Amino acid sequence: MSISRAIAEQMERSSWIRRMFEIGIQMRKERGAENVFDFSLGNPEVEPPEAVMAALRRVVAEDRPHRHSYMPNGGYPEVRARLAGGLAERTGLPFTGADVIMTTGAAGAINVVLKSILDPGDEVIVLNPYFPEYRFYIENHGGRVVTVETDAQFQPDIARIARAITPWTKAVILNTPNNPTGAVYSAEVLRELNAIIREPVLAISDEPYRPLVFDGAAAPETLRIVKRAVQAWSWSKAMAISGERIGYLAIPPDLAEAEALRNACTFANRILGYINAPAIWQWVVAEVPEATVDVGRYQEKRDLLCDALQAMGYEAPRPAGSFYVFAKTPIPDDIAFIRLLQAEGILAVPGSGFGRSGYMRLSLTIAKSDLERSLAGFARAMEQCQCELTAAGVAH
Ligand SMILES: Cc1ncc(COP(=O)(O)O)c(C=O)c1O
Repeated sequence: MSISRAIAEQMERSSWIRRMFEIGIQMRKERGAENVFDFSLGNPEVEPPEAVMAALRRVVAEDRPHRHSYMPNGGYPEVRARLAGGLAERTGLPFTGADVIMTTGAAGAINVVLKSILDPGDEVIVLNPYFPEYRFYIENHGGRVVTVETDAQFQPDIARIARAITPWTKAVILNTPNNPTGAVYSAEVLRELNAIIREPVLAISDEPYRPLVFDGAAAPETLRIVKRAVQAWSWSKAMAISGERIGYLAIPPDLAEAEALRNACTFANRILGYINAPAIWQWVVAEVPEATVDVGRYQEKRDLLCDALQAMGYEAPRPAGSFYVFAKTPIPDDIAFIRLLQAEGILAVPGSGFGRSGYMRLSLTIAKSDLERSLAGFARAMEQCQCELTAAGVAH
């Protein structure tokens, strides 16, 4: 048996995140788990809100007939109708249950919509830096990735996106709040995006971090502003249930191709092998769709980390949302810097893994006590860079 060339090549290209994982295992063996400070994972460290666990217990205790059976590929009609009510309120659009397809998280939703719209060679625009799995999702369905750089604040650069749209462009993936940068797209930027995203191009708004916004702010509602946007939603991060694989794809009913797209996506959900989203979890999220982890805990860690790094001389802007700090590495070679951090027991993902070298992504899912104990290592790595730059006669 041989592995396909495409998969072998993709695995090689995804090697950064994988390598961090393997390095982490090795480091824990060598140093002891308590001396490894893992900022590399986007896996929520907090437990799900009590309201979610209580809903789960209620749903499991219920005596619903055939509750472990197949269902319509789009999910339980009653669940979809309940969620559509909330969506209609948030977006001002007349959503009904038929417009909501339950999926295995945002990853499932994005794959379903890409499968439904892409022909071989079609182009999908992603905004750099970006969640690296997008590339594989697009290539899964024969698409071509077109990367467009964001601006200095990691907001979409409208002129660049407009120039990148060609007759082969089928979609633009938007992700606010953003992984890896923590940027929240402004309403103004969304209005400008609305002006350039025209039929047949679709905006796929990937929103697993929507409820995770800091300083009491809220992320402007993409579907309210960008008329040709569908929403890939997930409770993985909001409820800290990433292992449960539950989310949805919402297709606004006033989209010209809404009906055809709904049918295609429902079919794609089936033939990609998802069949339907997990049954028990559909009922749970329908009971408490707004339940969210304590964002204050991430904000506290954000402030602690950004303040400390800035005091050491790092360029580490505070993210407005999600749970990542995207900081500049003191030397342009982010991979060399990540190795310096590893020598201090710190695991971070190089910006190169997201398409932007010279940066590193630090996940705030780390425990606060580990974050505090890691700071001396960040300071030593910075000092080492400053010494090397001074020795090389480079001003910094
Ligand atoms: C930007 C982004 N999109 C999608 C996903 C996939 O999330 P889910 O667990 O909902 O499939 C992730 C997970 O890390 C993410 O960061």
